[in-house]
Amino acid sequence: MTAKHFALQALPTDLVQERMPRHVAVIMDGNGRWAKQRGLPRIMGHRRGVDVLKRLLRCCRDWGVEALTAYAFSTENWGRPTEEVEFLMALFERVLRQELREMMEEDVQIRFVGNLEMLPRSLQAEIDRAVSETKNNRGIHFTVATNYGGRQEIVQACQAIAAQVQAGTLQPDQIDEAMFEQHLYTHGICDPDLLIRTSGEMRISNFLLWQMAYAEIYVTNTLWPDFDREEFHQALISYQQRERRFGKVL
Ligand code: FPP
Repeated sequence: MTAKHFALQALPTDLVQERMPRHVAVIMDGNGRWAKQRGLPRIMGHRRGVDVLKRLLRCCRDWGVEALTAYAFSTENWGRPTEEVEFLMALFERVLRQELREMMEEDVQIRFVGNLEMLPRSLQAEIDRAVSETKNNRGIHFTVATNYGGRQEIVQACQAIAAQVQAGTLQPDQIDEAMFEQHLYTHGICDPDLLIRTSGEMRISNFLLWQMAYAEIYVTNTLWPDFDREEFHQALISYQQRERRFGKVL
């Protein structure tokens, strides 16, 4: 690892290490508006958004967050103009190709969740390569939700379980939350503790519906391309001030 790039930044003194979220999820909203405000094409917002995500990943690593999940493309995003969809697919592919070396150096383990079969073949190949090359890395777990929809994820889990019941290898009363989770794309990753959404929208937008059951939600008006370390710091202060009861009386 070269100190030049990757020197660890200390946790701000007003944050408590023991109360850091283990898993942070982000809905990176506002790229288009950010670009429009500057008279730029929407894609410029996405391009800058990648740099912001890279910096956040590094910041999570520095401050002891174990997992970061980013909503890069939803099942609904196919409804955008064709040029924008094509740009995003090409961007994901290029970023993966360019960043693989640094992910290895920084010990990042990357995973993708979503219906990946519908993505362009060349992107699928790049995803397979990045996932397999980083699978033994033991640093931060970085998950990218691509062609992801929470309802679709739950439906495909139901289909897999129903097939086992139909085959006679599973009894309906053996279905419980733990076994259901094994059929989700995210199996093996702990549930998000903190969801951050930029650009002021107060919605979950079909993201990690099952996994988000007890996530704390932080919404900022800042547009994703302007989301920086200080904004993340503010989100963490807010998170650490909350009392998480998980439905219990403490
Ligand atoms: C939402 O902003 C943003 C997206 C749908 C794309 C986000 C993707 C990236 C930042 C690239 C990530 C890359 C990798 C490889 C993980 P919007 O377009 O909905 O903005 P608007 O609400 O202002 O229109």
